[in-house]
Amino acid sequence: MSRALSVAIVGATGLVGRELIRLLLQRRFPIKSLRLLASSRSVGKKLLVGEQEIEVQEANHNSFTGADIAFFGATPEVSRNLVPAAARAGAVVIDDSPVWRTEPNVPIVVPEVNGDDLAEHRGVIAIPSSFITPIVLALWPIHRLNPVKRIIVDSYQAVSATGARAVAELTDQSRAVLDGNKAMPHIYPHQIAFNLLPEIEVFLDNGYTKEEWKMVQETRKIMHEPDLLVSATCVRVPVFVGHSAAVHAELSHPMTAEEIRDILREAPGITVQDEPTISLYPQPWTAAGHDTTFVGRLRQDLSHPNGFAMWVVSDNLRKGAALNSIQIAEELIARNLI
Ligand SMILES: NC(=O)c1ccc[n+]([C@@H]2O[C@H](COP(=O)([O-])OP(=O)(O)OC[C@H]3O[C@@H](n4cnc5c(N)ncnc54)[C@H](OP(=O)(O)O)[C@@H]3O)[C@@H](O)[C@H]2O)c1
Repeated sequence: MSRALSVAIVGATGLVGRELIRLLLQRRFPIKSLRLLASSRSVGKKLLVGEQEIEVQEANHNSFTGADIAFFGATPEVSRNLVPAAARAGAVVIDDSPVWRTEPNVPIVVPEVNGDDLAEHRGVIAIPSSFITPIVLALWPIHRLNPVKRIIVDSYQAVSATGARAVAELTDQSRAVLDGNKAMPHIYPHQIAFNLLPEIEVFLDNGYTKEEWKMVQETRKIMHEPDLLVSATCVRVPVFVGHSAAVHAELSHPMTAEEIRDILREAPGITVQDEPTISLYPQPWTAAGHDTTFVGRLRQDLSHPNGFAMWVVSDNLRKGAALNSIQIAEELIARNLI
């Protein structure tokens, strides 16, 4: 890798921020200096970065002077307020929030899929929603050989995608229920412990939730397929880490499950885990803590001659957030775009 960079992490104390710190070190990202930024609540807190303790500072409009790159993993409000300031200060922003994804000059990037879009960036790059990244990653190598015409996705999404407070809510509610007490919902509209909620983000007039609609918009933008037919049902499940999705796709021409398995075995970022006879298939429990996206239950969709189905599982804090962000930064360096 080339010159070392001045790096800022906004939301350094959160789930994604802490994963960013861990992975930047693990991947030996070329860091010249690292500033850790969060809300005023965290000012003075010290976070361990390797052997070194770094004090957290409050993120504000003046936080980015001299920064080469700013990873945003805070809240949508923070991204709305501070991303323009960071970009104006000359930092390339990699934003994990949904705020800038629909802007025409902001590419949404999964490096293995549309890394070439990085050439178009004007200072701000977005990552996709955490449940969409692994799905697009798994569809792309198939799509290149046999274009996907329609996908139907049912997602089973972990609570850590809603942040640290949601993780605490599932923990507290699970204890309360097991102790025979009432579980009080704060983050979600209903109890999440021992339950499923088919509501992620607000409902839109068309009957979909905003999360489900992101699947339509973001998939089309990443794959450069504005007419791709997409439908999704997103469900919050009482899992701490790891999003799962049942994906049913219609291709342009028929393909056997074995052909698709062979394509995915060669695909970057993917591990095929598909031995139904020994109950080997991807699970959130075993995917958590891994960088790779696991794909299994590959089969022809017998309801359509060109159809196939698969089960995709990935760590939402890694490929769904921190890892994808860092891979974007690594790609920018490799392509001399920073
Ligand atoms: N979790 C995932 O799987 C995932 C995946 C993809 C994208 N994302 C996106 O990543 C972002 C962070 O998610 P998370 O799960 O890490 O959330 P989280 O655990 O709740 O952490 C939120 C972070 O934002 C900081 N923050 C809150 N208000 C702030 C303010 N006014 N100024 C500066 N910093 C502030 C918090 O700092 P304090 O500790 O000081 O409050 C904390 O560091 C969100 O935009 C989310 O949509 C998350």
